[in-house]
Amino acid sequence: MKRFFRDQAKRVLTRVMRRSGLEIHAIPPLPAAYEGIPDAAYYTNSTSNDPHFSPWELGGYGDFREYLDDISPYTLVSPDRCHVLYSLGLQALQTLEGQFFECGVYRGGTAMLLARLVHRKRRSPDVRLHLFDTFVGMPETDHGIDLHRKGDFDDTSLESVRARIGAPDTVTFYPGRIPETFSGLQSVAIGFAHVDVDIRDSVKACCEFIYPRLQSGGFLVFDDYGFPSCPGARQAVDRYFRDKREVPLVLPTGQAVVFRK
Ligand SMILES: C[S@@+](CC[C@H](N)C(=O)[O-])C[C@H]1O[C@@H](n2cnc3c(N)ncnc32)[C@H](O)[C@@H]1O
Repeated sequence: MKRFFRDQAKRVLTRVMRRSGLEIHAIPPLPAAYEGIPDAAYYTNSTSNDPHFSPWELGGYGDFREYLDDISPYTLVSPDRCHVLYSLGLQALQTLEGQFFECGVYRGGTAMLLARLVHRKRRSPDVRLHLFDTFVGMPETDHGIDLHRKGDFDDTSLESVRARIGAPDTVTFYPGRIPETFSGLQSVAIGFAHVDVDIRDSVKACCEFIYPRLQSGGFLVFDDYGFPSCPGARQAVDRYFRDKREVPLVLPTGQAVVFRK
């Protein structure tokens, strides 16, 4: 009897939701082999019928939790994208001795993650994180392709970001407009770069400066590649890599990653 009423209730609910354009799918239980493992809760994905290990969920898995705790209030970058930065940054530190670049710092969230990673995991004190931003908002944008406008992201400052990140032995700031702020760094070797500047001319300038200096085995991560709010960023990457050997790997997070040959 109980079961009859439960099934009826289910049917009515499903009908009402369908009428409102919604669908219900049951998330299948984890296979028995996963029962009892300490991190089973991370095999979840509310948008999929196919659970998979998601170490950026539930506040972060393992070491990553500590990084995420610190930076979350100061970044626009979602935990899954931060996990990409964490993993590739760690590999660059374990295999290369190139410099770390971040172009597009805003309030300093992802820069904090990278600064902590470099500080803790670098194998040589010469490896530093170089941070590039106007720190007063977007420069002029191209209204033909970019959706952002001059002055977006102006609720920040160099002083506040510097104080937030700390680590003066690890981090160098280059306030001002890219590409002018790259001057003097022509001979640098780069192991990892995060480009999060959102607009076409800025992404193009980053590609032109960073790619030729990226070490073999190094990574170039574009944050905005797949986002409808940043069509200029995608155009700049597509045009720049048209005649290169590397194929940018587009991720479901919206990022694209270049693995330097
Ligand atoms: C989306 S925000 C960066 C977000 C940041 N990574 C985070 O963790 O939230 C984009 C930043 O790119 C900067 N930017 C864009 N073009 C630039 C340029 N040509 N020179 C310097 N900064 C630029 C803007 O000032 C803005 O702070």
